[in-house]
Amino acid sequence: LTSAPPHALAEKYFSMYPEETDPVWGNPCQDPRHKKIWSHNKTCDQLPKFLVIGPQKTGTTALYTFLSMHPNISSNIHSPETFEEIQFFNGRNYYRGLSWYMDFFPASKNTTSQYFEKSATYFDGEMVPKRAHALLPQAKLVTILISPAKRAYSWYQHMRSHQDPVALNYTFYDVITAIDSSPKPLRDLRNRCLNPGRYSQHLERWLLYYPQQQLHIIDGEQLRLSPIEIMDQLQKFIKIVPLYDYNTHLRYDPKKGFFCQVKSSAQGDATACLGKSKGRIYPPMEPRAYKFLQRYYLSHNTALVKLLKKLGLRTVPQWLKDDLSDTL
Ligand code: A3P
Repeated sequence: LTSAPPHALAEKYFSMYPEETDPVWGNPCQDPRHKKIWSHNKTCDQLPKFLVIGPQKTGTTALYTFLSMHPNISSNIHSPETFEEIQFFNGRNYYRGLSWYMDFFPASKNTTSQYFEKSATYFDGEMVPKRAHALLPQAKLVTILISPAKRAYSWYQHMRSHQDPVALNYTFYDVITAIDSSPKPLRDLRNRCLNPGRYSQHLERWLLYYPQQQLHIIDGEQLRLSPIEIMDQLQKFIKIVPLYDYNTHLRYDPKKGFFCQVKSSAQGDATACLGKSKGRIYPPMEPRAYKFLQRYYLSHNTALVKLLKKLGLRTVPQWLKDDLSDTL
């Protein structure tokens, strides 16, 4: 039996097991031996109880805002670097390690409160379900789905309003019909418009790791039109107490065209809506773009109907029926 200094030993180990060079952070709270040697500053409550996984442009900011209104629900603290979203399980932040992540969830004395994290890019992140499950096997997952065609268009409009040169120079139809020999920036935008909307594929990946009982699917159109009902169902799913009365705290604002938070003051009630970047006003999608997307998503949407039925959803969302109609 021979040994070597730690660095040399590590080199040897990883040359023998190259698949282990990419870390997967486990949960110290799942193993009594790990828990015993853990820093006494850390507690198992410093991790989120549920994740809002996205995808982008489906109403995730509205859901985040509504959840944060609940006295016993808190999101991670904000950092100037990450803004609202930590985006830990995808991308480079994962390599910053567990302590980095846990620092976003300061230990709290309120044992009935629940932490959550919303990062809308988790939904379609290749590595995310595996990593999230390794650290948060008991976490509940919340996803919002809208018409993938509508989602793609909303993303394109989002990029235009951020002065993205590709989105400014090409029409939406040009973007979604870009081919593999098109310039790379155009293909990249096409992919960000189209890929997250292959819902069944992404959901199946999450379900490889998490049992379906831990997954809650919100119809994004219902979130927009009847958020009070949606928030009541969500509160039951995450088992939060007390039940927050969204009926008195959310109100439709005709000027914004969306539900907004009611703010009471001595002068009376006013509504606080999401900023200009949410619920943008833009021209309707060209019919030929919608037709193209109906065909593009046909197999994905058909698989989604099957999956939703398997998951026990009683009604197929109206947008899904619409997207599947007249596709010939
Ligand atoms: P548009 O701006 O394209 O209309 P996300 O927060 O995930 O980026 O999603 C943004 C979308 O949330 C908006 O897309 C808007 O349609 C939708 N949304 C749903 N409920 C909303 C609300 N109460 N206020 C503003 N936007 C809302």
